[in-house]
Amino acid sequence: MFARIAGRYDLANRLLSGGMDLWWRRQLVRAVDRHTPRDVLDLATGSGDVAFALSDKLFYSNNIVGMDFCQPMLDEAGFKQQATGLGANISFQQGDGLNLPLTDASFDAVTISFGLRNMADRHRCLSEIRRVLRPGGRLYVLEFSQPQPWFRPLYLFYLRHILPSVAGLVTGDKSAYVYLNETIEQFPDRAALGREIIAAGFSSVRANGMTFGIVALHEAVA
Ligand SMILES: C[S@@+](CC[C@H](N)C(=O)[O-])C[C@H]1O[C@@H](n2cnc3c(N)ncnc32)[C@H](O)[C@@H]1O
Repeated sequence: MFARIAGRYDLANRLLSGGMDLWWRRQLVRAVDRHTPRDVLDLATGSGDVAFALSDKLFYSNNIVGMDFCQPMLDEAGFKQQATGLGANISFQQGDGLNLPLTDASFDAVTISFGLRNMADRHRCLSEIRRVLRPGGRLYVLEFSQPQPWFRPLYLFYLRHILPSVAGLVTGDKSAYVYLNETIEQFPDRAALGREIIAAGFSSVRANGMTFGIVALHEAVA
């Protein structure tokens, strides 16, 4: 599915979120920067927006790995890297989040932005992330969440009726965005995702909601 929409993925993000996705990713990168990690994995990196933002902010890191299992999405990231000359410290690699081709305890931080929702097995993905983090390393999950109750009816109307139609026009693939809407509606709320993170072996977790709770940033310690 991501291979089909790769070429229009960034444009669709900007339009569908009204540009807010850039701000959400900036909050993620600011949280990562507080702990000055050297070796950073951006899992489900897609077209690389988080990896590029990390590269820009974490000037002290010379090892940022952007990993995804979808080669056309990685190709988009590679085009951007070549066209802009940015992200010299990023290596984009193909790999499955359920079976990471990475050695144990090799990263100080792992970010996953709008990717955990797409993993076929969340527990397995979180356990794999835990495995590749060093003791005390941190996981940052930026993901859609469940909005505040008063905002929910308006949000559901947008998700079910407006988002698939607009996304269909932009990407030519309305079905991909019907899937997106369903995964967002079914995704656990902040507390439930926190419990899933702890169940995967992390020692502590805290979460912050953004934009009436439609997006949350979970930060967990390995
Ligand atoms: C919604 S995109 C998010 C991309 C990017 N992180 C962002 O913030 O825009 C989800 C990404 O997860 C990737 N993905 C889904 N399942 C995966 C898996 N098992 N292993 C690696 N990547 C996966 C998809 O290929 C896609 O690029």
